Amino acid sequence: MSRKPLIAGNWKMNNTIGEAVVLAQEISNEFEPDWAETVDVAVCPPFVDLKPVKTVFEFDRTKIAVGAQNVYWEPSGAYTGEISVAMLKEIGCGYCIVGHSERRTLFGETNEDVNLKVKALLGEERDAIDPIICVGESLAVRDEGSYLEFVEAEVNAALAGVSEDEAAHVVIAYEPIWAIGTGRTATPEQAQEVCAHIRATVSALYGDDIAEGVRILYGGSMNEGNADLLMAQPDIDGGLIGGASLAAGSFIGVVKAAL
Ligand code: 13P
Repeated sequence: MSRKPLIAGNWKMNNTIGEAVVLAQEISNEFEPDWAETVDVAVCPPFVDLKPVKTVFEFDRTKIAVGAQNVYWEPSGAYTGEISVAMLKEIGCGYCIVGHSERRTLFGETNEDVNLKVKALLGEERDAIDPIICVGESLAVRDEGSYLEFVEAEVNAALAGVSEDEAAHVVIAYEPIWAIGTGRTATPEQAQEVCAHIRATVSALYGDDIAEGVRILYGGSMNEGNADLLMAQPDIDGGLIGGASLAAGSFIGVVKAAL
């Protein structure tokens, strides 16, 4: 089965509204309309930038989706500082990153939290916010050799209680923590090994048909110089791009590598 690649930019905590609108406009200007037939593209800015960035793309009729970087699983209520699925839906988010390693390590997010967020996004009537579930091992786990088991456990935990129909809408991003923001990209072979194992894990849960359709991204110092070799791997269906998504030229360079 051929899967449509997805290139998603994770802006992390960068860009005020003014800066975000400028960057979105630059990306929009460089994006050729027919690329959307071959590759799905999304940018994931901070919450406050979502609506302004969405407005830029809508105004230009540029087929680039916006995604959030986080969500809370309760529908509403006394959860100071949190953002609900309904709030993201109203903005028109197509994706939501869940369980990024920075949230796990800096903000104490657990596998159970990740699972609740995934289920909140996929639950109720489906309304098109696909979770981008981040998994990936630390350098200590990699050196110790148990990284496949570690990533498998993260995937299984994130998908606990997710139905087959829901699982078809999930995106999984393999982001080895040792490769994030370090300039030390996983080799295509290293990334492929884990992405293939993630697909096998999904297959064990839902069968080959679902597993063959689920998109698995690589993230970690991916840029226009290494994206094509990574995406040439059979189980790597795109990228979750951090630093290289913060300038239009380098982000568009990665998008072009997926064409
Ligand atoms: P870098 O591309 O900056 O390494 O970040 C990757 C990442 O964390 C994307 O979510």
